[in-house]
Amino acid sequence: MIDTHCHISREDYDDIDLIINEAINSGVEKIIISGCTKDSIVESLEISSKYPNVYITIGYHPSEADLITDSDFDLLEEQIRNNDVVGIGEIGLDYHYGKENAELQKKLFHKQMVLAEKYHLPVVIHSRDATEDTIAILKQYPNVIGDIHCFSGSIETAKIYISMGYKIGIGGVVTFKNSNLYKVVENIGLDSIILETDAPYLTPTPFRGSVNSSKYIPIIANRIAEILGVSVNEVDSITSKNAVCLFDLK
Ligand code: NI
Repeated sequence: MIDTHCHISREDYDDIDLIINEAINSGVEKIIISGCTKDSIVESLEISSKYPNVYITIGYHPSEADLITDSDFDLLEEQIRNNDVVGIGEIGLDYHYGKENAELQKKLFHKQMVLAEKYHLPVVIHSRDATEDTIAILKQYPNVIGDIHCFSGSIETAKIYISMGYKIGIGGVVTFKNSNLYKVVENIGLDSIILETDAPYLTPTPFRGSVNSSKYIPIIANRIAEILGVSVNEVDSITSKNAVCLFDLK
């Protein structure tokens, strides 16, 4: 199985070796970590270079939009050029706490979509309370594909993204009792799904309240298997194939 999106830092985990070994022991062969702030990009690049089964995407999260200067942006491009990154992200739009800086967020999102196009890299999209604007921007880059990380929207929205060539990232939310995400899973099927934890956030049931980690990917795979009435092996093989293809994982 593949955890296509999580964050690993010393701030959240005392023992990173342990976190990675626990994931491998639970059947997770590959992990893609995301560095999405200036500091976490530096730390994530260092971590991913230490482990052969840990891959990395980098890009500035929309919550950084007020902070990123032109020279920070040049630095990002240099980091993309000089490292073995498998994608750009998480990038996108987040209007959850308001739209005051929506224009800055859009500008940063556009600039990073241009980078994705230039370096032929897939994007990992963060979109929160911003579906319409996210779709409008992605449509301007028809040569770029990626995944909609931690998807929590409607069936219709999922289908729009899929029609644009995007995969849908399904995480721990699918195990939550009050979530309707199972309806999306039922409707889109395995061909459009990749697995993710978004660790250290969004720990799946029954471990909610504790720190999330990649070792819980099998819980998410099990829940998807249950929803679709297929074996866990099938969920593993199809979602892993989707992830390997999308991120060109060796
Ligand atoms: Ni994330």
